[in-house]
Amino acid sequence: MNFKSLIRDVPNFPKEGVIFKDITLLLQNPSALKQTANALFHLLEGRKIDKVVGMESRGFIFGPILAEKLNAGFVPVRKPGKLPSTTISETYDLEYGTDTLEIHIDGIKKGDRVLIHDDVLATGGTASAACKLIEKLGGVIVQCNFLLELTFLEGNSKISTYPVKSLIKY
Ligand code: PRP
Ligand code: MG
Repeated sequence: MNFKSLIRDVPNFPKEGVIFKDITLLLQNPSALKQTANALFHLLEGRKIDKVVGMESRGFIFGPILAEKLNAGFVPVRKPGKLPSTTISETYDLEYGTDTLEIHIDGIKKGDRVLIHDDVLATGGTASAACKLIEKLGGVIVQCNFLLELTFLEGNSKISTYPVKSLIKY
């Protein structure tokens, strides 16, 4: 299916000069939602996964759907202060300033085979921080998969030691 036809460009969101890739038209279309989930699932090519890790908040859309399809668990990576039990955190650089992500220490067991999923790979800061969290807990990253990748931002280079797959590239 033509996924790109259901992804809307919104100019100057969230700030002046940025063209936001809006996936809400794709999500609200029942057939497109199903086909997108299936296509993301097929990026794994049958590899066994114990845990799908999704990053707050848009990694929580397809992350749990993929986990269910893969017979895996779902583990959230969240913004600071959101997870109630004991966490570890990873801070990464943004264009201006830094951001931090957290995961529960009991979310990943040593040797767990992990799929990292998010909606968008842009600069790669989010995904690379998530990968570091998984490895700190002894998880094995089998694949990082994304609905869409903004290739001109070269986020791929920050997670180049892992297999990276994206359904749609711009
Ligand atoms: C967006 C997107 C990815 C991240 C990609 O999330 O959902 O998680 O940016 O950017 P990067 O590759 O440059 O790190 P955002 O932080 O805007 O938050 P949201 O998911 O809560 O909307
Ligand atoms: Mg996000």
